[in-house]
Amino acid sequence: MVDALLPADCSDEHRRLAVRLSFELGQAHLFEAWPPAGQRDADKTQLLAQLATLEANYPGGLAAYIGSARALLGQAVRGENALEGWTPSVPDDGVDLQPGSPEFAAFEERGLAEAAHLAFAVPAGGLGERLGFSGVKFALPSEVSTGSCVLRVYASYILALQRHVERAGGGPCRLPLAVMVSDDTVAGIQRLLDENGYFGLEPSQVTLLKQEKVAALADSEARLALKGEYEVATKPHGHGDIHFLLHSTGTAQRWAAEGRRWLYFFQDTNTLYFAHHLATLGVTAARGAAVNMVSVPRKAKEAIGAVCKLTHADGRSVVCNVEYNQLEPLLLASGHAAGDVNDASSGFSPYPGSINGLMFDLVQYAATLAATGGRIDEFINPKFSDVSRSAFKSPTRLECMMQDYVKTVPPEQTVAWTRYPLEFGYHPCKNDILSAARLSAQGIPPGCASTSEMAVYHMHATQLRLLGAEVGPPQPASYRGVAVERGPAVVLDASFAPCFSLLEPKLPSPQRVRVSARSALVVSGRDVVIEALELDGALEVTVEEGGSLRVLDLRVANRGWEFVEHTDEEQAVAEETAAIRGYRLVKHETRRIHVRAGEHLRL
Ligand code: UTP
Repeated sequence: MVDALLPADCSDEHRRLAVRLSFELGQAHLFEAWPPAGQRDADKTQLLAQLATLEANYPGGLAAYIGSARALLGQAVRGENALEGWTPSVPDDGVDLQPGSPEFAAFEERGLAEAAHLAFAVPAGGLGERLGFSGVKFALPSEVSTGSCVLRVYASYILALQRHVERAGGGPCRLPLAVMVSDDTVAGIQRLLDENGYFGLEPSQVTLLKQEKVAALADSEARLALKGEYEVATKPHGHGDIHFLLHSTGTAQRWAAEGRRWLYFFQDTNTLYFAHHLATLGVTAARGAAVNMVSVPRKAKEAIGAVCKLTHADGRSVVCNVEYNQLEPLLLASGHAAGDVNDASSGFSPYPGSINGLMFDLVQYAATLAATGGRIDEFINPKFSDVSRSAFKSPTRLECMMQDYVKTVPPEQTVAWTRYPLEFGYHPCKNDILSAARLSAQGIPPGCASTSEMAVYHMHATQLRLLGAEVGPPQPASYRGVAVERGPAVVLDASFAPCFSLLEPKLPSPQRVRVSARSALVVSGRDVVIEALELDGALEVTVEEGGSLRVLDLRVANRGWEFVEHTDEEQAVAEETAAIRGYRLVKHETRRIHVRAGEHLRL
C-alpha cells in the first residue's frame, strides 16, 4: 500500500496523487521499490513533487494524459489508422497569392489596416538537435551579410509595423510577442534578449512561456517510465504546447481583452514568414476565417504537411494539416488509386504544403481555448520491440503539433489557406551541413543554414524584380556539398520596407534600378527612396530614424563581397555559425552610405 510508505510530512495533495496513480491509473510500479516510511523520504518527496508538476502541466492532469496515451497506444497496437473513415479532398476555401499582383496588394492593404491589432507567437522550445549549433536557434544569423540573428529580424518587423501604425495616426502601438521556451532554450533566449536590449522591443511586450516535458511511457499499458528509482523519465511534448500555455497563463485572454484581434504563429528559423504576413492577415480578415494556414506549392510526396479537407463517413468535415506520411495511405485507402501525385498542369500536388505560419482570429481563438483548455490532438509514435506490441525499444510519449489546433476549431468557423510562391515560402535552418549535403545529393531540399540564407537574399531580390528592377538571376553553386542558388545578396531591412506595398513607393522608377548578379545590397532605414541605382559590387545603406536619403542617380562599382567555400582545414576550425554554412563572407570592398538623424542626403 503506497499510503503506508509515504513520508510522514507528505502533503495531502501528494498523498491523494500517489493513491490515485497507484489505484486508479495503473501506476503502482512507481512506488513498488519504495522502502518503508521513514527511509529515503527526501527521494520520495522529490518523485511526488515531480508527479505533481506533471499533473499540473497537462490539461486534465495525469489522468487525462494516461487516458489519451492508452487510447492512442491501443490504436497503435491494433495497427489502426488514426484517420480511418476520413476522405481527403482539396479544401476550396483557399487563395493563391502572387506578391506584386493587384490581389496581393489589396489583401496587404487590408492587413496593414488591421496591423495595430496584431500579436505574435513563436514556439522556440526545440533543441535543434539536428543543426550542429550549440546556441539557441534564435541566435543564428539569418544571413551573414548583416549578421542579424533571427530574433532581431523578427523584432525588426514588429518595430517597423509599430512605427507604421503610429505614423498613420494610430497612437502609441506595442504589438506583443509570446515566445514558448523550454528548459533547453529558456536561459539562452533570455540571455539573447538581455544582451541585445530586447532588440528594441520593450521587455513588457515579450512574454516567455515555458513548456514542460511530459512523462515518458514504458509500455503499451501507458505505465510511466522511470529513470532511476525516484524520477520519471520525461520527453518534449512538441510545439502544440503553445496553445495550452497561451491559455493556462491567461495570455490569449489578456490580449483579446486588450482589444487585439489577430495572432500570427510562426517558427524559429524561417524569417520569410514576414514577407507576406500582412497579406495573410488581409485574407483572414476578408474571409472572416478563424485560422488561415500559410502554404506553398508542394511536390507530391514531399516531406511537408498538406492542407486537406477531411470528410468523415458520418458527414463531419474538417480542414487541417495532414502529415505527409499519412497522406499517401489516406489517399490510397479512400479510392485515389494513384495516391499523392502532381497535377499535370502545375507540376505540383493539388494539396497546398503547410509551412506552419498560422494567422488566427484572436477573439475566436480565446473563446475556443476557454472551451478546450488549450488541449489539442495528440499522436504517439512507439517503436515496438516485440511482436505482441506491448514493449517499446525505448520509452515513448504523446506529442502534439501547433497546426493541429485547427482540428478543434468549431465547425461553424472557417479554416482558410493562402498559398505563396516557393521563393516566399519555407526555408528553415534545421540540418547540419553533413546531413544537408546528403539530402542535397538526393535532390531533397537540404533545409540548412546556407539554403536558408540564400533564400533570404532571393526573396528580397525577387521583390525588387517584381517591382520592375533589373536584378541578376541566381546561379547554381555548391558549398561543402550543399547545392544552393546564389544570386545577389539583397537584404531589405524591415525598417526600410516591412511589406511589399510599403516597398513600392521606395522605388518610384524601378526600371532605373539595376543590380548585377555578383552584387550585395543592404538597405536599412525608413526614409530612403531609390530612384536610379546601378550596382555592380557591394552597397550598404543605413539611414537613422530622423534622417533621409534620396538616391537620384548612383553608380557603384567595386570588388564587392565574396562567399568563399571553406577548405577542409578551414571547415575543421570554423566557428559553429560559419561551419554550418561551409563558407565565409569576404567583404573585399564596400560603398557605405550612413545618414544620421537630422541629415538629409541626395545622391
Ligand atoms: P523543429 O521541427 O525544428 O524541431 O521544430 P526542433 O525540436 O526545434 O529541432 P530538432 O528536431 O531537435 O532538430 C519546429 C518548431 O517548433 C519548436 C521549435 O523551436 C521550432 O520553432 N518546438 C519544437 C518547440 O517549441 N517545442 C518542442 O517541443 C518542439
